[in-house]
Amino acid sequence: MKVLAVVNQKGGCGKTTLAIHLAAAWAKEGFRVLLVDLDPQGHASLGLGVSAEDRDLGAYDLLQDPAAPFADIAVRIERNLDLVPSGIILSAAEQELARQPGRESRLISALLRHGEAYDWIVVDTPPSVGLLTFNALVAADALLVPVDSSTFTLHGLGKILETLEVLEEEMDRRPPCFVAANQFSRRTLFSRELYRKLAAHDRIHLLETKIRASVRVKMAAAAGVPVLRLTKAGLVKLDFEQLAEELWSRLAELIIERTEEVAERLFGPQPCEGGIRFSVEASEAREVYLTGSFNNWNPGGIPLEPVAGQPGRWEVVLALPSGNYEYRYILDGRWVTDPEQHDSVVTEMGLENSLLVVS
Ligand SMILES: Nc1ncnc2c1ncn2[C@@H]1O[C@H](COP(=O)(O)OP(=O)(O)O)[C@@H](O)[C@H]1O
Ligand SMILES: [Mg+2]
Repeated sequence: MKVLAVVNQKGGCGKTTLAIHLAAAWAKEGFRVLLVDLDPQGHASLGLGVSAEDRDLGAYDLLQDPAAPFADIAVRIERNLDLVPSGIILSAAEQELARQPGRESRLISALLRHGEAYDWIVVDTPPSVGLLTFNALVAADALLVPVDSSTFTLHGLGKILETLEVLEEEMDRRPPCFVAANQFSRRTLFSRELYRKLAAHDRIHLLETKIRASVRVKMAAAAGVPVLRLTKAGLVKLDFEQLAEELWSRLAELIIERTEEVAERLFGPQPCEGGIRFSVEASEAREVYLTGSFNNWNPGGIPLEPVAGQPGRWEVVLALPSGNYEYRYILDGRWVTDPEQHDSVVTEMGLENSLLVVS
């Protein structure tokens, strides 16, 4: 599973168009692809002929409800291509998330849970750098930034680079940033000048592929299909195919595997031999217990043992059948949610419990 986030806080530069066409081109090549529409405007969904109004579940549920069945969230578009659609309800998530723990890691934790069946996950983002886009950045192995070459501005790019610095400071992540010139015209000085400026930029990887402006892109969007499904796809189809191929080979060079160690550090209980390993950092504690729905919230709890060679770390392995479990740790008598696990549920009594989904 590799995650490519398509970002640029400037609207209209081609994020949705490139996201759809990359996803479709990779799927056609035989990769298993999931396109996640993370823009409440739902343009990527509409571009693939899916209207959020016809769907019960979508991107909102992916982020907000760890227990929602993925089979009901994703829609099969064609062979090798699934879509997580979005609609206007997703804009509520942006506000709700602001008050929730782990608000920046919702997407990555959902993708780690459901995304293993895919080679590529392409995330289309809204034209802003709010929490939805930040979730995409945290999840991303690499970024694709489309730049509209018909306007002479690099403003959007500067903003992305600033946001990437925040990402590095807060999350210790620095995904490589690929830039593609969209609506490129060889004949205009504008386009050529912009490309030259981009090429001189040292913090991005400028792609050689340039996407020409073509009325077929708009026709395809209106028909709710990718360009390659039109009977006359035109030359722009080749641009998209070349983009897919170039990105694929550049990414293969650059991406460093997300290590298991990182997943453990960030994402709580992990499957291991013998069951699920619950592990928590509690250097001040003298006694650490685990309790939850798997032991009927026994207040005595299940004891964790200190891990040899890792001062302050405690763990226990439980054999758990698949299902959803709520749990808490008990540190010297104090009941706490798992600080290393961002999925949680709020009970009828208003208490927050950590949530573990074993699949
Ligand atoms: N290469 C292109 N040729 C023609 N029209 C394009 C091209 N790329 C994007 N467009 C059009 O420009 C508009 C904005 O593109 P879109 O992908 O929705 O941008 P964003 O998602 O960044 O807001 C859409 O109407 C789209 O059809
Ligand atoms: Mg868009």
